[in-house]
Amino acid sequence: MKIELKRWAPGDRAALSAIGNGVDRSFLSDRLPDPYTVADADQWLHSVMARDGKNGIFRAIVVDGQVVGTVSVDQKEDVYRKDADIGYFLVNGLWSRGIMTEAVRQVCDLAFAQLDIVRITGLVYADNMASRRVLEKNGFRAEGLMRDAIFKKGRLHDQCIYGKRKADSSR
Ligand SMILES: CC(C)(COP(=O)(O)OP(=O)(O)OC[C@H]1O[C@@H](n2cnc3c(N)ncnc32)[C@H](O)[C@@H]1OP(=O)(O)O)[C@@H](O)C(=O)NCCC(=O)NCCS
Repeated sequence: MKIELKRWAPGDRAALSAIGNGVDRSFLSDRLPDPYTVADADQWLHSVMARDGKNGIFRAIVVDGQVVGTVSVDQKEDVYRKDADIGYFLVNGLWSRGIMTEAVRQVCDLAFAQLDIVRITGLVYADNMASRRVLEKNGFRAEGLMRDAIFKKGRLHDQCIYGKRKADSSR
């Protein structure tokens, strides 16, 4: 299995829309449009292609030639500008094969090399064990817990804060 990251291109709109409609949303933001139309995909692609390499790294995850997910490091603003949020999702049928662990490894390397940041933050539902493992396997440290920070589908969830510092990753 070959796991690569590639820059998004306008021609990925249909693939992105299909992924957005197929992903398990249990642990995602409600801002992700539902359904995720080709027009939604187009709008997002337009915005991230303009920002890529400047204040964010936005990549398609490609497995054996197919776009199967997305991984991004999105630089913050104001006094938080040396920090960036990581986000990712993968189509349902390909879980637990190490794909996101490898994608996160690659995107962190790119982000620390290309962006003017010193850390990357991962905010994860406390009950999203697979996502927490992905971050831990990539050297993210658990830095805190925000109790009842998330309200999703009528239920409160705790949110874990994970962090990875550039200084630690280059040691
Ligand atoms: C979370 C997600 C990105 C994980 O991607 P993935 O490619 O399946 O992850 P990997 O295979 O690289 O690693 C998953 C790890 O979690 C473990 N895991 C999976 N389900 C688990 C569970 N219920 N409890 C504990 N560990 C679990 C796997 O065993 C693996 O760890 P290991 O290598 O130590 O055995 C994927 O499930 C996804 O896209 N989910 C929907 C969207 C989402 O939740 N995004 C994250 C938002 S923060």
